[in-house]
Amino acid sequence: MEFFEEECFFKQPDRDPYVGGLCRIGTVEVAPPVIMAPMAGVTDGPFLEVVSRFGVGMVTTEMMSAEGLRRNDPSCRRMLRVPSRVPIPVAIQIFGAAPDVMAEAARAAQDSGAAVIDINAGCPIRKIVRQGAGAALIREPDRLARIVDTVKRAVTIPVTVKTRLGWDQNSIHVVQVCRMIQDAGADAVTVHARTARQIYTGKADWWWIRRLKDNLSIPVIGNGDVTCPSDFHRMMRETRCNAVMIGRGALGNPWLFRAIADQCRPRGPSASSLETAAQTAFTGGEHRTPSAQRTAPLRLKKTQSGPNPFPGKNSTGPSVITPSFLCTKNPKPSVPSANIWCGTQKDAPTLPPCGPES
Ligand SMILES: Cc1cc2nc3c(=O)[nH]c(=O)nc-3n(C[C@H](O)[C@H](O)[C@H](O)COP(=O)(O)O)c2cc1C
Repeated sequence: MEFFEEECFFKQPDRDPYVGGLCRIGTVEVAPPVIMAPMAGVTDGPFLEVVSRFGVGMVTTEMMSAEGLRRNDPSCRRMLRVPSRVPIPVAIQIFGAAPDVMAEAARAAQDSGAAVIDINAGCPIRKIVRQGAGAALIREPDRLARIVDTVKRAVTIPVTVKTRLGWDQNSIHVVQVCRMIQDAGADAVTVHARTARQIYTGKADWWWIRRLKDNLSIPVIGNGDVTCPSDFHRMMRETRCNAVMIGRGALGNPWLFRAIADQCRPRGPSASSLETAAQTAFTGGEHRTPSAQRTAPLRLKKTQSGPNPFPGKNSTGPSVITPSFLCTKNPKPSVPSANIWCGTQKDAPTLPPCGPES
């Protein structure tokens, strides 16, 4: 019993109770719930190919001009080749102001193998904003909603929007804007918790991510100033967001994703401890009551979800190990599925109620 408690199941003090095992964006599973942010000039094919080997759940291409794609720009064509070289879900980010042009670009991205279409509604660069794209869409939420609706009708894969808190400190309308995005059919939103005016100055204000989470039913992806595993855990815990997007923190440090992935992955017993457990179970059989002896000493039972904690033992999926006679205190010491391992968010602390905006 002690062996099971200590080696296998119950004591996992470093497991953050607020981290879920995965984030579902429409039909796409992002596991672990950490995403490489789009970064112009950085997140091209080779970069994403390397990062994808470090345990990140999904990657996002640098933004691609919908108009550029229409003009057959070589850089846009190159972007469309990214999904074929990256072995995990790839979100292709597009920017533009015209709904039909965005829809055309989204169709091309889907045809190239993108798992998700991400609409840029947060880029503050003048060249982009002048076109009515990027952060300009925060000031034109009706147009943004029309873009989401048109893109959504054009593709079958999930559609997400990446935005900011608002244009400036006096116009933080992220909750209303994201509600419109949600109503238009978006499958998730990502919020970089700064205003467009801030660009990258000041500190990301995660409080708004939590407010968004409280006010939306689609997944919310938090972004801004996450540079280490403890930041990741803190953002998940404080905001209850469904996944975290990381940009600058991963530059030169793709190992950050490995560290986070290792902490999110359910840790089953090692192969040797499993073997010892099995041996103990069988050896202990002679001391069991006759009725207990008739039951299998070590039953492996499949559960609904979560990664297989015993690779090689049951290659088809996750398992619950139930050595019932070993347990005197708890009749069913089971390896919980990923969600139970990682805990639930129901006990997260509550923030002050929403103000007049929501
Ligand atoms: C060099 C650079 C390029 C960026 N390019 C894009 C982009 O193409 N699309 C986008 O939505 N955001 C872009 N961003 C913003 C990031 O995706 C992210 O929102 C921001 O850096 C905050 O996250 P971080 O604190 O984890 O870096 C860029 C940021 C940087 C620093």
